[in-house]
Amino acid sequence: MKLRGISAKEVLRELEERLVSDMSYHSGRILGSMCTLPHPLARKIFSRYLEKNLGDPGLFPATFQLEREVISMLGELLGNSNASGIITSGGTEANISAMRIARNVSRKNGRKGKTIIVPESAHASFDKAADLLDVKIIKARLDEEYRVDVDDVQEKVTSDTFAIVGIAGTTALGTVDPIEALSDIAEDKGIYLHVDAAFGGFVLPFLEKAGFRVPSFDFRNEGVCSITVDPHKMGMAPIPAGGLLLRDEKLFIENSFEIPYLAGGKYNHPIILGTRSGATVIATWALLNHLGVEGYTKIVKRCMRNTRILERGIQKIDGLRLPVKPTMNIIGILSDIVDVCKLDLELRKKGWALGKFPEFLRIVVMPHVKKRHIIEFLSELESAVQILLASRTLTSSI
Ligand SMILES: Cc1ncc(COP(=O)(O)O)c(C=O)c1O
Repeated sequence: MKLRGISAKEVLRELEERLVSDMSYHSGRILGSMCTLPHPLARKIFSRYLEKNLGDPGLFPATFQLEREVISMLGELLGNSNASGIITSGGTEANISAMRIARNVSRKNGRKGKTIIVPESAHASFDKAADLLDVKIIKARLDEEYRVDVDDVQEKVTSDTFAIVGIAGTTALGTVDPIEALSDIAEDKGIYLHVDAAFGGFVLPFLEKAGFRVPSFDFRNEGVCSITVDPHKMGMAPIPAGGLLLRDEKLFIENSFEIPYLAGGKYNHPIILGTRSGATVIATWALLNHLGVEGYTKIVKRCMRNTRILERGIQKIDGLRLPVKPTMNIIGILSDIVDVCKLDLELRKKGWALGKFPEFLRIVVMPHVKKRHIIEFLSELESAVQILLASRTLTSSI
């Protein structure tokens, strides 16, 4: 650290220079992220209320009330306006917290609470949860549509199982697991069911409003105990804004930690964070009110239109295909003739940042990805495939 500080002007100038190598959403070249540019209104509000701390809600009762309203709006969106909940730092914290609550519920009911069953497609946050909670994670296989195989889940359930997880919008391909069937298993066996709709929670309800056929994934399924839903993904809220909704408020109360020393008066923390951003909650409240169902539906429809353009474009390129038809604005790219790792490298050389999974590449068509970016990308994708095919022909002819 410098002994004597430099002027604010110098700091700003240095930052302008240093940060220039970061990628920008404006470029349209970030194709593999579930985050996006926060909505302009949310940006403005976020910077205005930076000091609000919901780790000490007694000091900020009005912000706390806005959080209650955000939870109620999200609950309504996900089939239960009475749901309880909290805004977290992201999907990871929400998923870990849900697994902790599920483990405690199980042990309180005299069960072993030793294993969770998640789909093979589950986000790494469940591996983190299992590690932190010192429980075993069992991965159920996927069917040919990349959704969890319900029979496999059923077979894997034992008296050690304390939670089953279903995904509504997988990280890799945006597929939706058969939540209705998982809900039946959970109810039948008396096991906690958590739905990770970190991404899909801000897409599926609006797709449904737009007339798309959407599988049932939310609290309308009686076995669903909790749902992760992240405003900082398709909700266009500033980072950090995840969300955890619980059907039964009692579970939050019973599984929280009393913090006695707070200036605003003692309060119980139900999640991992202590000090946490109130600004993000206020910004989320503002967006939900400003955009409303109609505004979010428009955004989701636009992303879906662009997804269809991309889908058709990929299908026209020789040698490429989709692993599965997109359910939402996430699309995979598979190839039987070129190595997708090499394809990824070729695209990175041209400045495109996609997601890379073992078998395929993946694009998330977020609101910052415009039609013009997709047209440009498709043309560079085609030439990247040709470069790889040409180098293959050259190597085999030597
Ligand atoms: C389905 C799903 N759940 C959870 C997460 C974790 O969210 P975060 O990165 O906000 O912690 C992600 C992130 O991509 C995700 O795709």
